[in-house]
Amino acid sequence: MQWLNMALFRSRLMQVSLLTNACLIAYLSLEQFFVHESCSQIFTLSPSHHHWNEANSGIQLPRNTAPYYFEQTEFSQQVSRPRDDTTVNSNKVQIKQEVTEHLHASGISNGAPDPPPLSLEKKMFPDFRGCASRPSLPIQSQHGEYWILENYIPADLSFRCDESITYTTHGDYTHLDNIETITSRWQGPVSIGLYAPGGDFNITTSSIMYLRDCRTESIRKYVTFHLIYHTDHIPEKIPTTEELMGQKMNCSVDPPNWMNVTSYRRQKGLVYPINVARNVARRMATTYFVFPSDIELYPSVNFIPEFLEMLKKPDVSNTTQPRVYVFPIFEVEESSLPPKTKEELIKMLDSKHAIPFHERVCKPCHNIPHSEEWRVATVKPGLSVLNVSRREGAFKHWEPFYVGTHREPLHDERLSWEGKSNKMTQAYILCVRGYEFHILDNAFLVHRPGIKKYHRYDASREAIVAKQTRLLKGHILPEYKVLFGTKSECVL
Ligand SMILES: *[C@@H]1O[C@H](CO)[C@@H](O)[C@H](O)[C@H]1NC(C)=O
Ligand SMILES: *[C@@H]1O[C@H](CO)[C@@H](O)[C@H](O)[C@H]1NC(C)=O
Ligand SMILES: *[C@@H]1O[C@H](CO)[C@@H](O)[C@H](O)[C@H]1NC(C)=O
Ligand SMILES: *[C@@H]1O[C@H](CO)[C@@H](O)[C@H](O)[C@H]1NC(C)=O
Ligand SMILES: *[C@@H]1O[C@H](CO)[C@@H](O)[C@H](O)[C@H]1NC(C)=O
Repeated sequence: MQWLNMALFRSRLMQVSLLTNACLIAYLSLEQFFVHESCSQIFTLSPSHHHWNEANSGIQLPRNTAPYYFEQTEFSQQVSRPRDDTTVNSNKVQIKQEVTEHLHASGISNGAPDPPPLSLEKKMFPDFRGCASRPSLPIQSQHGEYWILENYIPADLSFRCDESITYTTHGDYTHLDNIETITSRWQGPVSIGLYAPGGDFNITTSSIMYLRDCRTESIRKYVTFHLIYHTDHIPEKIPTTEELMGQKMNCSVDPPNWMNVTSYRRQKGLVYPINVARNVARRMATTYFVFPSDIELYPSVNFIPEFLEMLKKPDVSNTTQPRVYVFPIFEVEESSLPPKTKEELIKMLDSKHAIPFHERVCKPCHNIPHSEEWRVATVKPGLSVLNVSRREGAFKHWEPFYVGTHREPLHDERLSWEGKSNKMTQAYILCVRGYEFHILDNAFLVHRPGIKKYHRYDASREAIVAKQTRLLKGHILPEYKVLFGTKSECVL
């Protein structure tokens, strides 16, 4: 790593790493500053943040860090410079941009004779092009009973906020076998919150390092890992990001065993703080659009370029209500390969090798509005919105998975996975705010193979569910009614 000394006119010398396409200027009272000519983008950090003081002035940043609003409220200034396109973009991204240009031209000429007066992007996301990109700095943050190591193991690539979409997800090390499929289908940034209390921490980091070094390159390129542990279950040792990145895994040794194990969390009977993990993954996503998902849900292919292309078309809705873009979800038999395109999926639905998700467990949770129309609609190239729906009536308990932005509410961190209904608070807020759910015509999710049946009755789990339900109805709902308002059709 190269180093650069930066003189800050009104403050002091700080040693800052020279990044491939971006420079960091940590400042104390910034009026003017020196910028090295090789910096293509510049960003600043607020002096009020306690991580940035003289003691930390030799801090090293990971490569390929991009500009960043450090914390939305604390941020002061960002300066953009012409960017050197050869630095960050992988070949993949370059190809994507060419495809995008091509589709752009044909999209307009095939549609109305005149260019659409107002694209979806201009109408609903006017701040998309000017959005501020952010780097993935390793930061430790404390959330109630949990410590979070944000950007603990960052991806090698970074993306401008307007050039990709981040798949954000969560889990523990026993779920890491899904990452390879997700990255190979998504081909864009992935941000994942992993719960790693006590003795789970070490195997989590060694599993991640193994995946980065010894499996598909896309894991290393795209995935940023955030680790979470409970304050009563502190790992024995927590290496720094630099220490981990300096390690080299021996790929001829057997991989760490993460498939058939009883984790520390299970041994100790700890609940899984699903919403702490969901939230950190989304908060740390550096792109404007984000796709909060579950780690066992595999996306159809080619989504990112097609979604970005869709933004150039006119909006299908005549309202300016906030909206999100919904994926229908399916499951396939254990022995089947999950379909990659809608054509493949339709064939499997017809032959009953695939079914709508949770059809046999909780139909109202995931049954999408207009599902029959979705199934029979002719498959057109590209991506469009098929129908616009709301979380009302027969769909009032719907738990949709969708692409949105950082404007959508986060999840309530008091709710655990074991207690269930942990997405309901977020969905309630969307309902009260009158969100439209725009159902995408060609994109979908497939659950990792294996069709889910009813769970066996588990008394200890039922006790946790009962407790969480009381918390939801007795405390959380009244709070939400005051803060977010009410609507007769919106339920928790
Ligand atoms: C962590 O795991 C590595 C590799 O599996 C092992 O060599 C090391 O001793 C472990 N450290 C601790 C503190 O358990
Ligand atoms: C990697 O592991 C293999 C098998 O255990 C061993 O033969 C080899 O020497 C190791 N390589 C390094 C660089 O440690
Ligand atoms: C998982 O572990 C159990 C008990 O240790 C063993 O019986 C089983 O064969 C293992 N399964 C796999 C796939 O390794
Ligand atoms: C929007 O479209 C709906 C049905 O397509 C129509 O009933 C409504 O009047 C339209 N609203 C506006 C503001 O044009
Ligand atoms: C849903 O979309 C399909 C295809 O565009 C259309 O035929 C159908 O009328 C729509 N349904 C509703 C209720 O808007």
